[in-house]
Amino acid sequence: MTNPLAPDWLTVPRDLNDLDTKIWPTNISRNKYGEAQISGVAVSEMTAQFGTPLYVIDEDDFRVRAKRIKNALEAAAESIGTKAKVYYAGKAFLCTEVANWVSELGLNLDVASGGELAAALAGGVAPENIGVHGNNKSLAEIGRAVGAGVGAIVIDSEIELERIASAAQAQGKVQAVRIRVNAGVHASTHEYLATAREDQKFGIARQDVAALVARIRSDAHLEFLGIHSHIGSQIFEADGFVEAARRLIEVHSQLLSAGPVPELNLGGGFGINYTSADNAPNIETIAFKIAEGVKLACEERQIEVPVLAFEPGRAMIGQSGITLYTVGTIKDVAVTDGSAPAVRKYVSVDGGMSDNMRPSLYAADYQTRLVSRTSDQDAALVRVVGKHCESGDIVVRADYLPSDVANNDIIAVAATGAYCYSLSNNYNFLTRPPVVAVRDGQARLIVRGETEADLFVRDVRFQELQKNLPKNGKE
Ligand SMILES: Cc1ncc(COP(=O)(O)O)c(C=O)c1O
Repeated sequence: MTNPLAPDWLTVPRDLNDLDTKIWPTNISRNKYGEAQISGVAVSEMTAQFGTPLYVIDEDDFRVRAKRIKNALEAAAESIGTKAKVYYAGKAFLCTEVANWVSELGLNLDVASGGELAAALAGGVAPENIGVHGNNKSLAEIGRAVGAGVGAIVIDSEIELERIASAAQAQGKVQAVRIRVNAGVHASTHEYLATAREDQKFGIARQDVAALVARIRSDAHLEFLGIHSHIGSQIFEADGFVEAARRLIEVHSQLLSAGPVPELNLGGGFGINYTSADNAPNIETIAFKIAEGVKLACEERQIEVPVLAFEPGRAMIGQSGITLYTVGTIKDVAVTDGSAPAVRKYVSVDGGMSDNMRPSLYAADYQTRLVSRTSDQDAALVRVVGKHCESGDIVVRADYLPSDVANNDIIAVAATGAYCYSLSNNYNFLTRPPVVAVRDGQARLIVRGETEADLFVRDVRFQELQKNLPKNGKE
């Protein structure tokens, strides 16, 4: 029965034990004991070895998904007579293992800081396949990127143009650059908002782009690749991309009058399914709609279609990842201040906003399922909460679990592959969970979990005290 505290979009699942691959990783299923498994590795095997909370990545799911997106964007570009350069946006989830997968798949990698650049290089990504973003790159980050020979740096302000030019000059190099343009388009899920200039920190106003490009072209140490825009995230419709492309192509065609503009980068932002209410379009559909929009805008301006670049992150890895938690305390909270009295079951888990910031950061919704066993009990409306000292420490704002969910059960949260590990933190001195990649019946640790000792590595007094401790009880 529907609980009046449930949000409108949430319906009681027909089968509480179902792990719908519309949301969950492709290789998840239930074994004969009713326990969930990924690529043949049971949840209990993973939690016995690695504990909880645990980030689990279905490696084949990632590989298939990322390749499909790459192929779709390339095919869409080809259908309008051009090529596509596809970057994986490392901010979604990055470690050297993932960087290595990305190179194996023939993808480029987009990084947003010196640290991400270091991870990309250590993961074996060829520097020429790396794009560097950021609205406030330090001199050191710019110097390092130029020194490494990255394929592109995206200029976000006038001052950066000067910094990149002087770093390239000092190192006797020619650095390829893009300019991030504020297209005045912001899109999220189903809607987009078009303004003259979006009120945010990223990008250069369209009317200022030509002057900056003239400076790039006159600098022997810079090479102009083209303009860039990223209009938002978790986007389900092509319209926002098409509008941004239309606006960018207007600028692009003006720039063509004074020199070549080989590429046009339309950023990332393709949406995924987090809950049963989401119906993300398939990537082929949205890619072809964007390509059609680009073609039309180029025809209107009578210009050649440039090489297109894209930077999806979430769409490549979001649904490949899940998080496993152990259920701790449970409270049935009678909520009597609403129109109808109702009970919400608060299920506390051993992680929270330190391993998944998205619900507290922007009220993101997730789906949860009991995965250590099945249950035939009725559905109870639950709120899965963490163990942090914040009432906003919510992992799953609203979903249904079997009413017999109990202490020590393992529950999983779907689609945590993107922006969970990468946004993780140590609030309340919680240690960050490990990450395992599962493939061919094997769960492989790719990032170890933090230990309590890790929490004190940077604590100067603690380290001093450790150094001065008598050894073996003797001085
Ligand atoms: C410039 C840029 N490119 C790509 C992305 C990736 O976005 P998503 O993971 O939604 O595809 C982001 C996300 O913030 C971004 O800022």
